[in-house]
Formats: sequence, structure tokens, C-alpha cells
Amino acid sequence: MPLLPHQDKAGWTAFLPAAERARAARRAERLRRRYGLDALQRRSTVAVFANNLALLERLEELGRGVALPGGAAEPLRALDVGSGDFHYATALQRFLSRHGGGPARAVDLLGCEVDGHGIYRDGHSRADHARAHAALASEPCGSVSFTVADAAELRLPPQDVVTLLFPFLTLYPLLRWGLPLSRWRPRRLLRRAVRALRPGGWLVVSNQTSAEFERLRALLEGQPVELVRQVPFATDLVPQAERTADRVGSLWRRMELQPDPASG
Ligand SMILES: C[S@@+](CC[C@H](N)C(=O)[O-])C[C@H]1O[C@@H](n2cnc3c(N)ncnc32)[C@H](O)[C@@H]1O
Repeated sequence: MPLLPHQDKAGWTAFLPAAERARAARRAERLRRRYGLDALQRRSTVAVFANNLALLERLEELGRGVALPGGAAEPLRALDVGSGDFHYATALQRFLSRHGGGPARAVDLLGCEVDGHGIYRDGHSRADHARAHAALASEPCGSVSFTVADAAELRLPPQDVVTLLFPFLTLYPLLRWGLPLSRWRPRRLLRRAVRALRPGGWLVVSNQTSAEFERLRALLEGQPVELVRQVPFATDLVPQAERTADRVGSLWRRMELQPDPASG
């Protein structure tokens, strides 16, 4: 496993206008305490740290007032579809384990990425990096793991939560990323994501633009999910170049399937 590169976090808000830095630092400090981010702070670049903070803040907003599925007695089972290098594994794990207050809940989180074999400058693969981020995110109760696979082909027990952060719903980003056209099956991927959920489970999706969110809504039409909430997913905690002002996060709930009256 690669040693995750580290950068000092002093002055990490330097990209912000001077008047906004103190407030950003206060937000980061609240998140660090609330979600136990010390290990991440010690073992991350500024970009990875800031991305985790931003994701936690947005997930908090998305899940506000909505209870996570499943009972506290069982570990919560979660699947992240299309994890890239899973650099946000800590944010996802901490959000799921601490959402709603109370003692931290055990979480079994699996990140899944079809394109895991690209080689980074340090000679390690994307999958190696993803496993290192998963290991960093792990807590004594529960597990965080990563697999290289097509998420549509995974066979897993029913999940409490399935997340898709910035999935390829339109063709251009997929081709820009370098995936072959044969990998572009968004309707199928979403259908499988919904099917992986147990009734009451959460489907969490983030989209780059509101137009892409409308595409998501169309693709989910006819699927047994209902929209619980959508919130802006834009953030000012990462530098300008990485922000998209129009990002949308959405939370969907898997509905109970009604028994078919014809089947008696
Ligand atoms: C835009 S990237 C988002 C990466 C990551 N979620 C993030 O927010 O940084 C979309 C990712 O989904 C992956 N992907 C696309 N189809 C997939 C599939 N069927 N199974 C698993 N991963 C897939 C792509 O390879 C790519 O890494």
C-alpha cells in the first residue's frame, strides 16, 4: 500500500479571500471534532483534507433531520459506486457512523471502482491508493474496504446506503475520463444501485449540474425510489478550480415493493 502523501495544514485556507479564512477554519475545526478527523488531518494533502471537509458538510445538510435506515445493533452496510481513488472514504465513513448524534455506529463500507488499474506517479495503482484511503478511514468497529469491479455486476447482501458521487450520467465526462463507450450504461447502473438497497435504504447521489440532476431524475423514473431531499452541493472549502456552483446532492429512499395482486 502506498504511504499517503502528507502536507501541513497550517494556512490551508490561503486560497480564500482573507475575510473568509477565519470562518472556514472554524467550520473545519467543528467538523474535525465532531467526526474524529485527526488521522485524516495527519495523513493527507491539503486537497484531500479539504475535499473530505466539504463532503461532510454537504452530507450533513443533505441528511439533516432524516434518520439513517437500519437498527443501531447491526453494522450499517454501505456501498459507494464509482469511488475513483476513494480519497473521500473518511468523510463517507464518518458521516454514516455519526449521523444523527449518539454513539458512533459500526459501518461496513465498500468502495467499488471499475477503473482501478491506472498507475499514479508514485508507481502505485489507483486501487492501491483507494485501499490506503480505506485503511485510513477504518475504525475499530466495522470496516472500510475497496474492490475493483463493475458495480452493476456485484452481488452483495441488501445495503442500507448506496452512494454515487458524481457518476457519469452523460457521455462527455465519461469519454473525458477515458472510459470506453461500452461502460456507459447509466440506467442499468442506477437500476442495480436501487436494487442493491433494502426497503427504506438511502440512495445518495451528487451531480455536477442541475441539468445532470434532471437527467438523474429521468433515469430513476419508474424505479422504486422516492426523492426525500435535494440540496446544493457546491462548496467554498476547495479552491475555485474545483468548485462547480451548480452542483446538486440528492437523497432518495428505496420504497417497499407492493405485492403483485395477480400473484395472489
Ligand atoms: C466522475 S468519477 C467520480 C469518482 C468519485 N466518486 C469522486 O467523486 O471523486 C466516476 C467514477 O465512476 C466509475 N465508474 C463508472 N462506471 C462504473 C461501474 N459500472 N462500476 C464501478 N465504477 C464505475 C468511473 O471509472 C469513475 O472513476
